[in-house]
Amino acid sequence: MTHPVNVQRRHLILGGAAAATASLVPMRSFAADPVKVGLIVPMSGPFASTGKQIAAAVSLYQKKYGDTVAGRKVEVILKDDGGVAPDMTKRIAQELVTRDGVQILAGFGLTPLAFAASPVATQAKTPMVVMAAATSVIVKRSPYIVRTGFTLPQVTAPMADWATKNNIKSAITFVADYGPGIDAEKVFVKQFTAGGGSIMHSIRTPLLNPDYAPFLKRVKDSKPEALFVFVPSGEGASLIKQFNERGLAAEGIRLICTGDVLDDDLMVSIGEVSKGIVSSHHYSAAHPSPENKEYVASFARDNNGMRPNFHSVGGYDGMHLIYEALKKTNGDANGDKILAAMKGASWTSVRGPMTIDAETRDVIQDIYIRKSEEVDGQMWNVEFDKIAQFKDPGV
Ligand code: PHB
Repeated sequence: MTHPVNVQRRHLILGGAAAATASLVPMRSFAADPVKVGLIVPMSGPFASTGKQIAAAVSLYQKKYGDTVAGRKVEVILKDDGGVAPDMTKRIAQELVTRDGVQILAGFGLTPLAFAASPVATQAKTPMVVMAAATSVIVKRSPYIVRTGFTLPQVTAPMADWATKNNIKSAITFVADYGPGIDAEKVFVKQFTAGGGSIMHSIRTPLLNPDYAPFLKRVKDSKPEALFVFVPSGEGASLIKQFNERGLAAEGIRLICTGDVLDDDLMVSIGEVSKGIVSSHHYSAAHPSPENKEYVASFARDNNGMRPNFHSVGGYDGMHLIYEALKKTNGDANGDKILAAMKGASWTSVRGPMTIDAETRDVIQDIYIRKSEEVDGQMWNVEFDKIAQFKDPGV
């Protein structure tokens, strides 16, 4: 809380004259200042869709619930970190805290960027709401981190279980070669083999500018029953296109994946080639709750028809968590008080019921098994099974 210090300092500067009239001057409470939230997301570069989705969700939240909570205006300072340079994200986080005086950091589109900012949160005792980055270990990088998105182990373990229960006996794993991909690979291999399946190969592809062709050739030649894929949101369209063009589907290889690959933002452009693909995730824009129907409609209305994806929901719920914490602290934005108010919070999200684990600060939520189907002329991930209130199983 910086304001009482400022008030004190002003009294000192004004000296005796101010002191003489002090009883006549009402003390300004911190309520007069806005609470500043520094939102750091990629709004440009290869992962710009993540930033656009989160920024759109954050403004939708403030449009719907107002920009004032517990008597304090919530001012969001949006910063584009470009999505690929951890040093840049760290510098922006430092500037937001020291120069702009933000009391809460939020966003973080990719794991390396969340890692880079985590020491800033710790040093400044500033809550850091991770809305997108999904490597399991992130919450352990700072006691000030709270996650409102998901973790890769959390969505991958149910996919592996589904595969073995549905008689898939052999698989190849195919992941982007960095934190979340490695989490997904480890968990899929562990869970699939525990269920009796066998892994033929584990393939890792570069995160930036991947050329999938040589890897897909190797998969085609090996003829597994299934190919399990994780690539980060935004990259699934080209992978699915190549999977079909290179004849893997025709060869009878079944594509299964986390919902990152069938990102709702991309479903319309991926189109019919996704038909029948089974995936697992914590959010689908087709989730049939009244809250979600309203969310999808208002998101589309405000964003030229754009469909909200899972990152948008991490952003929307991140704002909800910030608002609810401020209500509990009566508008006090002290980092430790906000953090304490966030721990254990539970609510009905547009994704379904969710809780912030009071011990780990990670998200507990339902994970859905979905199938890509055509509904009213467009492809949607239609949920058909659910693993209720599933915690991150770790790697
Ligand atoms: C991550 O870098 O943690 C990340 C990014 C995009 C995803 C999932 C995980 O879709």
